[in-house]
Amino acid sequence: LEEEYKQKIKEVLSLEELQKVKSTLLGKKGKITSFLKQLKSLTPEQKKEFGKAINEVKNLFEDLIKEKETELKEKALEEKLKKSQIDITLPAEWTEAGAPHPTTYTLKYITDIFVSMGFSIEEGPEVELEEYNFDMLNIPKDHPARDMQDTFFINKEGYVLRTHTSPVQIRTMLKKKPPLAVVAPGKVYRKDLDPTHSPMFHQIEGLFVDKNVSFRDLKGILKIFLETVFGKDIPIRFRPSYFPFTEPSAEVDIGCTVCKGKGCRVCKGTGWLEILGCGMVDPNVFKAVGINPEEFSGFAFGLGIERIAMLKFQIPDIRLLFNNDMRFNLQFKGL
Ligand code: PHE
Repeated sequence: LEEEYKQKIKEVLSLEELQKVKSTLLGKKGKITSFLKQLKSLTPEQKKEFGKAINEVKNLFEDLIKEKETELKEKALEEKLKKSQIDITLPAEWTEAGAPHPTTYTLKYITDIFVSMGFSIEEGPEVELEEYNFDMLNIPKDHPARDMQDTFFINKEGYVLRTHTSPVQIRTMLKKKPPLAVVAPGKVYRKDLDPTHSPMFHQIEGLFVDKNVSFRDLKGILKIFLETVFGKDIPIRFRPSYFPFTEPSAEVDIGCTVCKGKGCRVCKGTGWLEILGCGMVDPNVFKAVGINPEEFSGFAFGLGIERIAMLKFQIPDIRLLFNNDMRFNLQFKGL
């Protein structure tokens, strides 16, 4: 038996086979086990002698099987490694490195300017309550401003795709008490499509609320901002305007006939280019969110990101920013 099984263990080729041999020898009904059972019927003398011999064989088999098991496991591992070998000398497939999208870049660039002045960032949903997008911003149901904004209505009663980032003003003031200095960047939607309008575009909203905030504060903050983006000697003009949620309201223009080589802004007509809307928060807006307009005042502004990106990078057609033509996108490498 010893010789026969020594050979068998040697010849085993797989772990399953080894398991079978193991159970024929050492299992509950195995050969060695049955020898051990037979010991009962022997005399004490014989028991001692045979018992010793059987145990020796048993230990021998156990060792042999263990050894074989280790050997087989190592072999299996080696084979697995061989199969999954990677040829690190093969030439890599060429992939062109990307470039930041000018809209993403401009959004972050502008946000960072306000963050550096102490503003914090707020966000709101793109599917917005009509109440926040219009009503609480002092835009009544029949107000022409609702048409002006070319709203996308959605299938759910009382919701719209936000037409501007101004509803984030409402969300912020419902949630937090003044003093407040926040900017809210994000996507907005209007039914509009031509070389300078896209149905989806980006805005950044600003809101500043505290005691004794004046129009001078608004002018100061926007002046610093515009000079940072367009350079120290950029002409800036505040032009009276109207928004239902600010009083007084203004639009800000920058001069655009100054054209000295790179970075120049050429434009037709008046030599001024409208760049953002702003004003002092209307008392009705404060009332809608439960802030006392006798105690607090504030300013708000909103500007289009694509518009700034087009000016900054002299992009002639807004659609270039949405087409994802790699020949366009890759021009912004290294921004
Ligand atoms: N929400 C206005 C727009 O989209 C911009 C604006 C924001 C004007 C805040 C005044 C104050 O045109």
